[in-house]
Amino acid sequence: MSNDTNRRDFLGYTFAAVAAVGGAASLVGMKKVWDPLPSVLAGGFTKVDLSGIKAGEPSTIMWRGKPIFVLKKTAEMENSDRDLVIGNDRFTIAIGLCTHLGCIPAWKKSMWKCACHGGEFDASGKQVFGPPPRPLDLPPFSVSGNTLTLGEEGPEYKKIASAMKA
Ligand code: FES
Repeated sequence: MSNDTNRRDFLGYTFAAVAAVGGAASLVGMKKVWDPLPSVLAGGFTKVDLSGIKAGEPSTIMWRGKPIFVLKKTAEMENSDRDLVIGNDRFTIAIGLCTHLGCIPAWKKSMWKCACHGGEFDASGKQVFGPPPRPLDLPPFSVSGNTLTLGEEGPEYKKIASAMKA
């Protein structure tokens, strides 16, 4: 009787231990399946070195499949509450898709012009002509030194985003 009880207890503990290990292994496996792939995580953030950008010559950087315009303004270009100010430099950061129907405007003579229906945006990304209903949209970004990181909302982004809403 005592031997039977011990044997039953032993089997019970063994089964519980195997079930616990199996459950833990399943949870680890599920987490691995649900977590985004490293390539997806890396694709969410794009770093841009602003120190190499020439004033008056916008760069286009691809971020999450969208063109992002980064323009270092010249001294002649108007100040805007949308400017990203780093030291003595002012930058316009904008999603490079026309806010009318999504074409990609081209930089021509200090403004972005949309070939689809003639929309125009000034150097601050503000719509100044044609059918676009609003300025070029602002991508989320953060700034550290001269490095812009697209894909995360830093204090500079929040300040500009709230100025654009006002
Ligand atoms: S899509 Fe740009 S003006 Fe229509």
